[in-house]
Amino acid sequence: MARRLKTLEPHCHDMTAHSPTMTTRQPAGAPHFHDQDGTLHAEGVSLAELGQALGTPLYVYSRAALATAWSSYQDAIGSHNVLVCFGMKANSNLAVLKEFARLGSGFDIVSGGELARVLAAGANPAKVVFSGVGKQRWEMQAALEAGVKCFNVESVPELQRLSDVACSMGKVAPVSLRVNPDVDAQTHPYISTGLKENKFGIAIEEALGAYQLATSLPGLNVVGVDCHIGSQITEVSPYLDALDKLLALIEQLGALGIELKHLDLGGGLGIRYDDETPLAPKVLLDRVFAALESRGCSSLQLVLEPGRSMVGNAGVLLTSVQYLKHTEARNFAIVDAGMNDLLRPALYEAWHGVLPVVPRQSTTTLYDVVGPVCESADWLARGRQLSLEEGDILAIESAGAYGFVMAGNYNSRPRPAEVMVDGDIFHVIRQRETFADLIRGESCLP
Ligand code: LLP
Repeated sequence: MARRLKTLEPHCHDMTAHSPTMTTRQPAGAPHFHDQDGTLHAEGVSLAELGQALGTPLYVYSRAALATAWSSYQDAIGSHNVLVCFGMKANSNLAVLKEFARLGSGFDIVSGGELARVLAAGANPAKVVFSGVGKQRWEMQAALEAGVKCFNVESVPELQRLSDVACSMGKVAPVSLRVNPDVDAQTHPYISTGLKENKFGIAIEEALGAYQLATSLPGLNVVGVDCHIGSQITEVSPYLDALDKLLALIEQLGALGIELKHLDLGGGLGIRYDDETPLAPKVLLDRVFAALESRGCSSLQLVLEPGRSMVGNAGVLLTSVQYLKHTEARNFAIVDAGMNDLLRPALYEAWHGVLPVVPRQSTTTLYDVVGPVCESADWLARGRQLSLEEGDILAIESAGAYGFVMAGNYNSRPRPAEVMVDGDIFHVIRQRETFADLIRGESCLP
């Protein structure tokens, strides 16, 4: 149900005292979040009022930001034959999926659960690619039943299992081999996936043999080649290095009479969290189209699997300051969102901007913004100059990707609600979890 905010009681702090420079406040790389009359807004909705009305922690997304991200790919694609398959592991809320499905997106899935979500969102299975190193038989069956575009197969044993499952169902599985091109994506080691030592894909040196096996196995139809070299990539060169290796492989396959229909370059385009210069889809794709053309491969369909760059800067996490704790070594702003709500800082030491939704004019203090979870790794931001008081609401920036999807219930904390803003209305697209949700399915011994 669409909702509009009633005008709430004026804020506890002085809204008239903001300096004019504050009107330029805007989260990094997120044009649909902006300052209006001294308060941070998502499109036309005040985040201060939203946080007060619905409580915190709260994930807030902008519908217009999703459309903008989609357009940045479509504008770069022009009339080329490209299928964008949203890497839905970045944000799998049904409302987000439905929005991308409406825009014409396909989806990159990695589990039976993700398949169930895309089907529930009404997506076209013929635009779904199924990646992942550990596909189980039931997941293969469900994807064959649904009629996905292809399986991105990541190992020889997986090829054999898929052949077996397809034959037992009297079906033919469309197959693309995910090749590990052994290139350095120059990103955080935990989100780098295209190096020899990573568990992903089939080593480029073994790919030819794997293709020959795939063409000989019953129940398989070889349709493509695939790679995904990592995430939060800001340079074009790792993509071009990987593409070069894939194109060489395609030539070798052609010589053996194995013709492919598509080439999937995966996802990975970085976004701006702090001062990064993200790699614009157009910058990448112009180079990719040129490479395909020069190698005589422009008839191949190109598939992309962007996740983060479609949603990362379309969302923030709102959290409220519970306590300000000053110790000899540090000043802590203890907030009501923790590592269970936004894991990225704890897991990758990731940097997320922190913006008070209504800034104060008083002098700033150097704070570590930490959560209530009983772990020293439970921090959201460290060493930030902020002017804070108890009760202030903060927006943790760039939380639209790998935010809610990585949230958990550690310390028996219910997961946050999610809201989609659309102009000056908002929709609760996921209710805040309740205590009943937390213990659902548990039972005690008699
Ligand atoms: N395709 C495959 C096969 C993937 O494994 C991934 C991400 C994507 C596409 C989408 O990549 P993106 O465009 O979002 O970079 N949790 C980490 C990121 C893990 C990415 C895993 N794979 C983080 O919070 O930074």
